[in-house]
Order: sequence, then structure tokens, then C-alpha cells
Amino acid sequence: MEIRKLSPCENYPMDLLVSADPSRKLVEGYLKRGECFVAVIDKQVIGVYVLLSTRPETVELVNIAVEEKQQRKGIGKQLVIDAIRNARLQGYKTIEIGTGNSGVGQLALYQKCGFRIIGVDKDFFLRHYTEEIFENGIQVTDMIRLSQDI
Ligand code: COA
Repeated sequence: MEIRKLSPCENYPMDLLVSADPSRKLVEGYLKRGECFVAVIDKQVIGVYVLLSTRPETVELVNIAVEEKQQRKGIGKQLVIDAIRNARLQGYKTIEIGTGNSGVGQLALYQKCGFRIIGVDKDFFLRHYTEEIFENGIQVTDMIRLSQDI
């Protein structure tokens, strides 16, 4: 598997990107402002993440996703590690990530990769999404914010 920056002549893997964030509008905004990286096996894009500069020396890892059939094989972890490495190479001092209150697997993954919970953006998903979202039988209402000094 190769993880690399998406080249300007390639299409964004939109299906994968919206599996991490159902708001196409928010995703398109992230893509305009951020850098998109992909995981590729046999010329097929099976994973993605976007690095988005948010404040001086701070970058946010957004829209990380792995194709459903390839999940739970360690690819998500490799993508998070790669994002941290790229953020460090680009001179950022802090990397942040946010996930829904229902994201049990995501919270495990991010903490295993060194992120610590720093806060809760209460009602984020109620404010920014028109439809109700459920995951693991839990309504997605709040965004759990995590951060790591790098
Ligand atoms: N339940 C519990 N733990 C989980 C999990 C789940 N569903 N998915 C991942 N983990 C944890 C495990 O602890 C695992 O550690 P282990 O290898 O010691 O068991 C660790 O995360 C790494 O898992 P990995 O196989 O690298 O993750 P992945 O390739 O399945 O990718 C996601 C994880 C979140 C990127 C993937 O599930 C995905 O694309 N989900 C849909 C999109 C999404 O929700 N993106 C995140 C938005 S915040």
C-alpha cells in the first residue's frame, strides 16, 4: 500500500470522503482549503484523509476514511500516523481532530495514535446538519475534540 498526496489531475474520492462526513458542502469546503492524501492498493484508492490548516502552527486532520471492505486491518492507523508525520514535516506544532460522540471506534483509534480529548463542541451536529445522524445506535449530537502536540 502507498500513501501519497492526491495529484491535481486526479478526482477526489467523494464516496470515501462523505463516509467520514455526510455533509458534501462541508467536505467541499475542506477540499478547497486543505490538502488531500490517499491510500492506494493496486491503483485503487482505498483510504483518504485531508489536512486543513486552522490556526498558526495548528492543523486539523479531517475526513479520514477507509473503504468498508478494508476496515479493521490497520489502514486507518497508518493514515493517522502518516498525517501526523506530514503535519510535523510541514512545521505544524499541534494536530487536532474531531469526531462524533457516537464514534467509539474512531475515539479508540485516535487515542491509540496519541491524541488526547481536550473538549466537547456541544450540539455541533445539531447546529451544522439538517438531518438526524445515528451511529452505533447513538444520535450524533456533540463533537469530541482531540489534540496532540507534535
Ligand atoms: N470499533 C472499535 N475499535 C475500532 C473500530 C471499531 N469499529 N475501528 C477502529 N478501531 C480501533 C481499534 O482499536 C484498532 O486498534 P487495534 O488494531 O489495536 O484493534 C484501531 O482503531 C485501528 O484500527 P484500523 O484498522 O487502523 O482502522 P480502520 O482501517 O478500520 O479505519 C476508520 C478506521 C474510522 C477510518 C474507518 O472505520 C472508517 O473509514 N470509518 C468510516 C468513516 C469515519 O467514520 N471516519 C472518521 C470520521 S471522524
